Amino acid sequence: MPKFYITTPLYYVNSVPHIGHSYTNIACDTLARYKRLMGYEVLFATGTDEHGQKIKDAAQAKGMEPKEFVDTIAPVFMGLWKKLGIGYTDFIRTTEPRHEKVVKEILEMLYKNGDLYEGEYSGWYCTPCENFWIEAQLIDGNCPDCRRKVEHIKEKNFFFRLSKYQSWLINYIESHDDFILPAMRRNEMLGFLKNPLNDLCISRPKSRLAWGIEIPFSKGHVTYVWFDALLNYISVCGYGSDMARFNKYWPADIHVIGKDILRMHAVNWPIMLHAAGLGLPKTIFAHGWWKIGGDKMSKSKGNVVNPIEMVDKFGVDAYRYFLLKEVSFGMDGSFSEDALIARINSDLANDLGNLLHRTLSMVEKYFAGIVPERRDLKHSDEITKALIDKSGLLGSEIKKGMDSTDFCYCLDSILDVIKIANKFVEQKAPWKLSKENKQDELKDMMYDLCDVLRMVSIALMPFMPDTSVKIAGQLGLENIEKRNFNDLKWGLLKPGTKINKGTPLFPRIETS
Ligand code: MSP
Repeated sequence: MPKFYITTPLYYVNSVPHIGHSYTNIACDTLARYKRLMGYEVLFATGTDEHGQKIKDAAQAKGMEPKEFVDTIAPVFMGLWKKLGIGYTDFIRTTEPRHEKVVKEILEMLYKNGDLYEGEYSGWYCTPCENFWIEAQLIDGNCPDCRRKVEHIKEKNFFFRLSKYQSWLINYIESHDDFILPAMRRNEMLGFLKNPLNDLCISRPKSRLAWGIEIPFSKGHVTYVWFDALLNYISVCGYGSDMARFNKYWPADIHVIGKDILRMHAVNWPIMLHAAGLGLPKTIFAHGWWKIGGDKMSKSKGNVVNPIEMVDKFGVDAYRYFLLKEVSFGMDGSFSEDALIARINSDLANDLGNLLHRTLSMVEKYFAGIVPERRDLKHSDEITKALIDKSGLLGSEIKKGMDSTDFCYCLDSILDVIKIANKFVEQKAPWKLSKENKQDELKDMMYDLCDVLRMVSIALMPFMPDTSVKIAGQLGLENIEKRNFNDLKWGLLKPGTKINKGTPLFPRIETS
């Protein structure tokens, strides 16, 4: 079985998850489900980032010890993933012994190899971003990323020789087109690498911050939270604990991240791996940000959208569909309930829901709820041929979209088939066929519609898993757990299948 290893970032546990976090996991879950359907053995890893100043501060604000605090938040993330149908295969917390052991081992290795050295750090530090900046990088004296206040720090620390590997990294990026995606992010990184790279400070003195993984060769220091967290990608797949598993899954096929953490992933992480003698992930894909009316979501602005509320109001699949369809993966998007409702009403109620419900109603009315047998395909007019041809391309269209991490492309191709099918109903006017007693044509038509819906239900499996099962259930299909993308061929529906009409899946949402 071929393998596919996909990761999400590890989420900071200083606050509860919002729609931005859910976006990455829904995208990864969709890719993971697709790969499973294509016969891959998938390792899909997610988890929580639990060390560092921010977490310590958040614990303190609650009057709790850091460990006690993180133990209360990690389950909140797990609960959200369950609610969103995220089928991860491993969840890693950076406070787990299997991870701490790896961080210590890699630190020892790099120290012995001379890639880590002790020096004095003097510069600026942004706590919310957990990032160092030199004076020239500050904007109006603030952090260039989040524009918040930075503090001046001067202390003895350990440094990682990033600079030594700069030209190696540039060559690597230039010779691997798919290493950083989308292409604009690759160009952004190559642009950043035109300036000399500073060595990376990878420790914190315990006198300032004790909440972290102790540096094995200096009792007075803990590990910088980013150096610690990035290593999760190898600890979760078995490095240092199960090397057979590690060798099976590493290198990762894709790290999916948000654009704000690209530099850590596309510069620091590859150099860490290379210095440790390990292979590099095939692709780092940086998606865009969800904003609220052009603004960043933030607690202080009070505009943070809670995914649980959205799912409770609109259902998990409508929410998944909206995030994946509304913006091209890689671009920024603007989130609003109005936009979500508009999407549900147009694509899911008017197009998909309508097609399903009217088809099932007609099969019930004209054929007592039994899928009729169709004549030979030569009895097909132009629109029937167009529908059959287009639905027959679903498998290759989705492959094309998924191979380029383009969820919109996939969903557009499914929606196109649905739209053609609705047009097919309008044009052929089955109610007239029935009146004129054109039974053969009516049978052909109902069979074709049901079979197209069977294919649509399969095509939707990675994107809207619950909806896919519900459609299959209403069509009366059997053994639905065995379905896969090889079944995206016209004509596999058994005539004689008894449908279960049920209620419309996506009723229109009326707004006053
Ligand atoms: N802990 C680090 C990641 C370490 S990975 C080894 C971190 N955590 S985070 O919780 O702040 O962010 C996690 C992810 O959420 C990032 O990929 C970030 O881009 C994403 N998002 C946070 N807000 C977002 C939006 N508003 N929209 C889309 N994604 C955003 O960074």
